[in-house]
Amino acid sequence: MSDRTLENLYSETRTFPPPEQLAADANVKAADYEEAAGDRLAYWAKQAERLTWAKPWDEVLDWSNPPFAKWFIGGELNVAYNCVDRHVEAGHGDKVAIHWEGEPGDTRTITYADLLKSVSQAANTLTELGVGAGDRVAIYLPMIPEAAVAMLACARIGATHSVVFGGFSVDALSTRIQDADAKLVITADGGYRRGKPSALKPTVDEAVAQCPSIENVLVVRRTGEDVAWTDKDKWWHETVEQASTEHKAQPFDSEHPLFILYTSGTTGKPKGILHTTGGYLAQTSYTHNAVFDLKPDSDVYWCTADIGWVTGHSYIVYGPLANGATQVMYEGTPDTPGRDRFWQLVDKYKVSILYTAPTLIRTMMKWGDDIPAGYDLSSLRILGSVGEPINPEAWIWYRKNIGHDRTPVVDTWWQTETGAVMISPLPGVTAAKPGSAMTALPGISADVVDDTAESVPNGGGGFLVLRDPWPSMLRTIWGDDKRFIDTYWSRFGAGAGQGDEWIYFAGDGAKRDEDGSIWLLGRVDDVMLISGHNISTTEVESALVSHPSVAESAVVGATDPTTGQAIVAFVIPRGNVDVSDEKGEELTAELRNHVAKKLGPIAKPRQIMLVAELPKTRSGKIMRRLLKDVAERRSLGDVTTLQDSAVMELISAGMKATK
Ligand code: WT7
Repeated sequence: MSDRTLENLYSETRTFPPPEQLAADANVKAADYEEAAGDRLAYWAKQAERLTWAKPWDEVLDWSNPPFAKWFIGGELNVAYNCVDRHVEAGHGDKVAIHWEGEPGDTRTITYADLLKSVSQAANTLTELGVGAGDRVAIYLPMIPEAAVAMLACARIGATHSVVFGGFSVDALSTRIQDADAKLVITADGGYRRGKPSALKPTVDEAVAQCPSIENVLVVRRTGEDVAWTDKDKWWHETVEQASTEHKAQPFDSEHPLFILYTSGTTGKPKGILHTTGGYLAQTSYTHNAVFDLKPDSDVYWCTADIGWVTGHSYIVYGPLANGATQVMYEGTPDTPGRDRFWQLVDKYKVSILYTAPTLIRTMMKWGDDIPAGYDLSSLRILGSVGEPINPEAWIWYRKNIGHDRTPVVDTWWQTETGAVMISPLPGVTAAKPGSAMTALPGISADVVDDTAESVPNGGGGFLVLRDPWPSMLRTIWGDDKRFIDTYWSRFGAGAGQGDEWIYFAGDGAKRDEDGSIWLLGRVDDVMLISGHNISTTEVESALVSHPSVAESAVVGATDPTTGQAIVAFVIPRGNVDVSDEKGEELTAELRNHVAKKLGPIAKPRQIMLVAELPKTRSGKIMRRLLKDVAERRSLGDVTTLQDSAVMELISAGMKATK
């Protein structure tokens, strides 16, 4: 973004107040905002009491060496004990922790007592393999229960895990192993994807050959396919499953490193985001309880993320298990064997809280309303969204077609770096607006500022920042304190040489509407500069998606001789729309006018291309950088993080065909 703040073009007037009964029974009520504003540290101390501490803390926050925070100083606890043992000790051993569903349809039901056995066995095996507190362990697994068990076993013995998404390449895996100097890899022969086994072990073999720090490789048998075997390899079922089920969890310091998770961002080498123990677990547990209004005795919770992303860490493993939730875990893709798989699972397990991503919601929109309509979704009571801005029309579609107009939708903004949800409606409190993450949660200070770190007034747009430290914040970038400061703390405030306040720069554009609600507008790097106006890609995309023929869109600013940049839009029509040549041209003309009418003439796209798919990262975010290459008719940049590389060939070919 240049010196101007972000334009505010999109206006939304619809609001959806919480259902009365849900509001009356909500875990967190409006009073919490005031309580937290009155004494933020006391509020966080109270939330940390959700956990079982072996030794109480002496001080809530140490911010004497900013931006390096310490939370719950002097306190000691064991994360695995909090996520597993204490529920069994409280008499909930028979309660289901995980209803696991494999892609081929095989299932496993894992109670908290089962989980305790497995985590203890894995902890014993890791110890036998010479892994101790402070050592790093790489985890490269499909979405099978052993992924959660492996993470918890590391936490139990104080080893720091680094989960690498199972779809990543040899290179991505080996650079992450090397950066963290890991001793052990936990992997599987493979997992199921799109109806067939997809091998993991060959990737690990190649990566480990380049990583002398690895002493052992622990291999879960999932697909049963043949695998090559090296002298570092040990089968999980011959070690973990034979180990003693007795293991006493030792407490660790509140600031003990719990995990590293690499985030690639838009440029440069992946950053190893470091999270620690007490603050992270306190805030993930608190937010999971508050944002999803979890009732552990009756809810069935399902987060569709992969364990390789932070959403899987915080809202499949740590938050839900710390809260004693019953959850669904699914191995495969949403279209295997059919496009109804998600709704079939919601129906089968009577899921009451569903947490998924805008990319999936828009895909479901494209596939058509009749697919979810074929299932009983009446168990659902809360719907969540995370990962990208959700366009208002996708939000409405989600509420209407999945939530049958009864369920609150919580649009949760956060990042790998924040560890837990930061900005979100509270389902029993907030009258939510479709497309807005609304307000910072109690205890969180989010702000939208201009170039000089001044808060923008209502109706204005700028940069999203966080003004006070929070318990689950990243502590540093693994091995690179300087990059930690440069990336997040040097844009505004003390780190930029302005005043004494340390201000966290999130890298997202945002606006505050007339009521003060916060709208996330995408990464600052994606903002377009059209005739001197900073326009967010998100607003133009939302305007496009508000047309009944559009399921999904991606917008980029392409160099233009007259306006500096001009808007080029890529649009996926809804399933039932005719896009034959003539109809397609009519539609694109109509869409250009539709955007101009919604947002004003400044936002009218120069060009619109109808496409079948959009390029996405493996976590489902649209890769606008590649579309910009196409729009500017350049050869494509780095495509290695692309989910499906064939998509770009199709789009490029389509672009060449238009003049
Ligand atoms: C970036 C962080 C947080 C877990 C998954 C992503 C974007 C995330 C939202 C939302 C608008 C969102 C932001 C953020 N983002 N949630 N609800 N509304 N944008 O974690 O990979 O670290 O990505 O995702 O741009 O900075 P991540």
